[in-house]
Amino acid sequence: MLMLANYVNNSNSETKNMFERKMKIRVTGLVLLLISHCFAVMSQQMSDAERKSMEKGTLYPNLKGAGQGVSGPGSNLPPEKMQWWEDQKFGMFIHWGLYAIPATGEWTMFNQKIPAEEYAKLADQFNPKHFSAAEWARVAKEAGMKYMVMVSRHHDGFALWNSPSSYRHFNSWETAAHRDFVKEYTDACRKAGLHVGIYYSPLDWRFPGYFDPKGLPDNAALLKKQTYGQVEELMKNYGKIDILWYDGGWLAHKGSDADAAWFWEPLKLNAMVRSYNPDVVINPRSGMVGDFQTDEGGADVKGPIIPFPWEKCLNLNATSWGYNKAQQLMPLKQIVVMLVNTVDRGGNMLLNVGPDPDGVIPPMHVERLKEVGKWLAKNGEGIYHTRPGPFQPVDGFYGSTHNGNKIYLHILKMPDSVTTIKLPPTNQTIISCKLLNGKKVELYQDKTGVRLNMTGVHLDSLVTTLVLKTKEN
Ligand code: GLC
Repeated sequence: MLMLANYVNNSNSETKNMFERKMKIRVTGLVLLLISHCFAVMSQQMSDAERKSMEKGTLYPNLKGAGQGVSGPGSNLPPEKMQWWEDQKFGMFIHWGLYAIPATGEWTMFNQKIPAEEYAKLADQFNPKHFSAAEWARVAKEAGMKYMVMVSRHHDGFALWNSPSSYRHFNSWETAAHRDFVKEYTDACRKAGLHVGIYYSPLDWRFPGYFDPKGLPDNAALLKKQTYGQVEELMKNYGKIDILWYDGGWLAHKGSDADAAWFWEPLKLNAMVRSYNPDVVINPRSGMVGDFQTDEGGADVKGPIIPFPWEKCLNLNATSWGYNKAQQLMPLKQIVVMLVNTVDRGGNMLLNVGPDPDGVIPPMHVERLKEVGKWLAKNGEGIYHTRPGPFQPVDGFYGSTHNGNKIYLHILKMPDSVTTIKLPPTNQTIISCKLLNGKKVELYQDKTGVRLNMTGVHLDSLVTTLVLKTKEN
């Protein structure tokens, strides 16, 4: 009995020791993992140039209204040709290229000072077996997105299509993959009923002339020739393109895209673009005033309604636009709130994914997007095809959109101990208020404004939509 008790005790203490040892190993492992994760994120801190490139695409705090850059007769679309774009509200941005292989972001070549010849070797490994543009389009649709913008060529110079103008044949057609991904993408996008957007970077780090256009004019001229040639290929060979999204018109990573207009001659460039695609919506980064303005990065969207077309572009994985081992996935609520805040201020939101070297969007990104799609499936009526207002947004509390005789009020969060929403006076008569697809909400309107009694109203854990019907005129 004693022996048995001893044995039990011994084995108990052995199990305990073993358990403690295992725990120690696990805790140490976890700490190491955490340290290495922080290290991975830290070691991928942006270079100054990368950070600046992001900051120059920022609308806040001073809203740059008309936009910077040159313009001329017919260079920009009239407001009526922008309506379809303003109806879309939500799109998918895709950064994918050779930089997916090192998995440290699309600025890897520049940040790690990799010589062009060395970097070019990545093309021998770039041969995605599971790339499926149809799958990308499926994911976008399931997320409730209405358009896509695919990076056809980033600052590293590697073109994802059969590009005869590509300097030194640096493209996916003449290297290991031997595929025209732009063709596959544009076909899939259209087939899925999504609007087709193409991102193209005039900047190409392989040209020393980019960094010194005045000192090395011949080399800079080669770069410009490539840009004109490639933009023409993209506009001519892939059917109707709905959006052309330039990035990196600035020179030597200095000044603004508009400052570099003397070099690129964007009016000439975009006149050529419009000769193939007269109604293409062009962003502001070629040095020409854009058809819309951009607000880049994950900073919150605040303040009043923005009275011109604009787009918030941001990244689902905050670490970088291109595929990255270090993941900082945006929380679901933050995405929905960002989308609502953008739409309530008149913008579209272009949310980026970075597929892996095989062309696969990381499953946790797909999952997250699916959740956004679920919210949109219920609340889309107050998002798509709407226009902002009539009520100016109140940061952190509510914002509104409207369409026909309906006003959609988005409640982000009810302030503590508030049970009545007091909206400012409006000259429209509001005849009813209810939760979108739900119960009636008590309403009272007079000269001082509109009051909604929120007692007992069940709020959505993400963002709640109320519908206020107005009297038809
Ligand atoms: C920045 C970066 C670039 C990214 C882009 C997305 O300008 O240079 O890496 O493609 O923003 O908007």
